Amino acid sequence: MQRRMFVSLIAAAAAMSFGAGAAHAADPVKIGFIVKQPEEPWFQDEWKFADQAAKEKGFTLVKIGAQSGDKVITAIDNLAAQKAQGFVICTPDVKLGPGIVAKAKADGLKMMTVDDRLVDGTGKPIESVPHMGISASKIGNQVGQALADEIKKRGWDMKEVGAIKVSFEQLPTAHDRTSGAVETLTAAGFPAANIIDAPQAKTDTENAFNAANIAITKNPQFKHWVAFGLNDEAALGATRAAEGRGFKADNMIAVGIGGSESAINEFKKPSATGFFGTVLISPKRHGYETSLDMYTWITEGKAPPPLTLTTGALMERGNYEEVRKQMGL
Ligand code: GLA
Repeated sequence: MQRRMFVSLIAAAAAMSFGAGAAHAADPVKIGFIVKQPEEPWFQDEWKFADQAAKEKGFTLVKIGAQSGDKVITAIDNLAAQKAQGFVICTPDVKLGPGIVAKAKADGLKMMTVDDRLVDGTGKPIESVPHMGISASKIGNQVGQALADEIKKRGWDMKEVGAIKVSFEQLPTAHDRTSGAVETLTAAGFPAANIIDAPQAKTDTENAFNAANIAITKNPQFKHWVAFGLNDEAALGATRAAEGRGFKADNMIAVGIGGSESAINEFKKPSATGFFGTVLISPKRHGYETSLDMYTWITEGKAPPPLTLTTGALMERGNYEEVRKQMGL
């Protein structure tokens, strides 16, 4: 009798220690990686490097594309049903912040954000969720500097140059990137009045193309064009729109942000296009490091740093292989 009671006490104690807190070492670790635009090369690269972390550490990575709020909520529920312990997310809309945080909490999942930082009801970043993003203003400054340098190198009269700012104001990192570019361009003497706002409805090439097309059509007074936006897709859309209106490589300078396949394909073309350069950022850090951070959080209970901002390096047609190598890509 006494022995039986002792045994059941041990069983109860064991059950308690297994049930609570961080995942036990024996639990298989499963991590979700949710992205807003799975077709975009940047996100493909993030997944690729997250996969690398999964292979190295031996956890399961569940890759999910979620282009809407509904899909995010379904994704989180699915992850919980599959017994995942946490996820990394680049949300389709940062304003979904409080809803996503509540959902993750209700489902008992750890979460961190990548690229796009969640905001609360008043538009302030949700600081309780660990985040890795790019240093948006600084990278925007690099874009502006590259444009100003190239305009000067070509000896263009700035009065005759229009600048297409492909904008997506509802996303804070997009706002900061393009504002950084504007700041540096105007500091270099570029007339603020020549900066034409071209708002895009979605952050892909097609929407950037449409936005840039309108900007060019409405402003026939310019002899040359430059263009920038939040990513390579924005700069590429503007490049294609300019081409369509007769502004080829010698009359168009577009500088993107990213440096993934969309940019590389452009640099590989036999002759130069209006897509002059891009600030290379690191999908390796954003994919590999965030997944590893999540893994450590799950297995050791150590939360990721609250905020990590990554840097970028300008690359052009002539040096892209070298610059990518330097960044370990
Ligand atoms: C945002 C953009 C992406 C990419 C990432 C990088 O999510 O939409 O294209 O630039 O930022 O952090």
